Amino acid sequence: MTGVEVKVEGLTKSFGPANIWSDVTLTLPAGEVSVLLGPSGTGKSVFLKTLIGLLKPEKGSIMIHGTDLVRCNESTLYEIRKLFGVLFQDGALFGSMNLYDNIAFPLREHTRKSETQIRDIVFEKMELVGLRGDENKLPGEISGGMKKRAGLARALVLEPEILLFDEPDSGLDPVRTAYLNQTIIDLNAQTDSTCLIVTHDINTAQTVPGNIGLLYRKHLAMFGPREQLLTSEEPVVAQFLNGRRQGPIGMSEEKDSAQAEREMAEAGELEGLPPLKPQLAASPGMPDRQAVHRRRERVEAMMHELPEPTQRAIRESYDRAPEPMVTGPRHTLAEDPPTDVYPRIRD
Ligand SMILES: Nc1ncnc2c1ncn2[C@@H]1O[C@H](COP(=O)(O)OP(=O)(O)O)[C@@H](O)[C@H]1O
Ligand SMILES: [Mg+2]
Repeated sequence: MTGVEVKVEGLTKSFGPANIWSDVTLTLPAGEVSVLLGPSGTGKSVFLKTLIGLLKPEKGSIMIHGTDLVRCNESTLYEIRKLFGVLFQDGALFGSMNLYDNIAFPLREHTRKSETQIRDIVFEKMELVGLRGDENKLPGEISGGMKKRAGLARALVLEPEILLFDEPDSGLDPVRTAYLNQTIIDLNAQTDSTCLIVTHDINTAQTVPGNIGLLYRKHLAMFGPREQLLTSEEPVVAQFLNGRRQGPIGMSEEKDSAQAEREMAEAGELEGLPPLKPQLAASPGMPDRQAVHRRRERVEAMMHELPEPTQRAIRESYDRAPEPMVTGPRHTLAEDPPTDVYPRIRD
């Protein structure tokens, strides 16, 4: 299986009179991992829901395999939706179903597989996310982190070509977040699926994706190779990456620019951008990530259009071999990882 390109052009979404974002144009390159950043309430979740056809935009197109999701009929949309695996913010599990049935649900709904075949797949995915043994638990009986992992297992059972993650790391401790990030990279190595991760976690943005976008002030402020955003001197980017108060982003909504400028002046010299971190590599034993090679070719071809600091950062990254997070025994997302892998921590 190889990933598929998702080409979004001129997308605009409003709810009644309230415009959420306008003219969003980006291409998720086939099989690559991309991250979407943005202050809370800028419409990142709305964007993911629009991508899978749950919400209708007023303008623009979303092309997948030559079909425009915005304009196709219901039955085509139903077929195209099967290409997607989505991990919603809270896992979106059915409260009255145990974890096994929740994870088996898409297989029973969309395939003609026998219960024996379904069991093999469900157990495999539950093993992958560290939930084996928890089949009979109800969503109400488990922690937020376990719900996310169950949601991830459910997102994976149909072997999706496109994986969308809505803040997979919110509510997870830093160790679990690191494991989850490693799992995403390992999945990408194994399946070459096109991934889009919405996150607030700076470390995730710095180490996981090949491409980063930023939704800001109702527009896609930026979308490109990770080095482009991570070396950008835009105040909003520096504020985001450093997680600081001074800058264009306010608490309740985006500040007016006069106030932002006043604060920047009062704060004086602010720290610049954090240093670029090496990218996470797949765990030992995983297949070579095809997307890494395709991305390198793609970025080389667009190099001359990129700002000088971005070009420098990209060239430097070639000399730094990416490293997996763990090099010991197979990593785990389970609640109680073996103590030789990581100290015992619960979520
Ligand atoms: N179904 C809906 N109907 C009306 N407004 C909505 C709906 N879904 C989201 N919104 C609004 O869209 C805006 C963006 O929401 P959301 O995508 O959840 O932001 P983010 O995920 O970036 O934090 C919010 O103001 C929210 O209230
Ligand atoms: Mg959201």
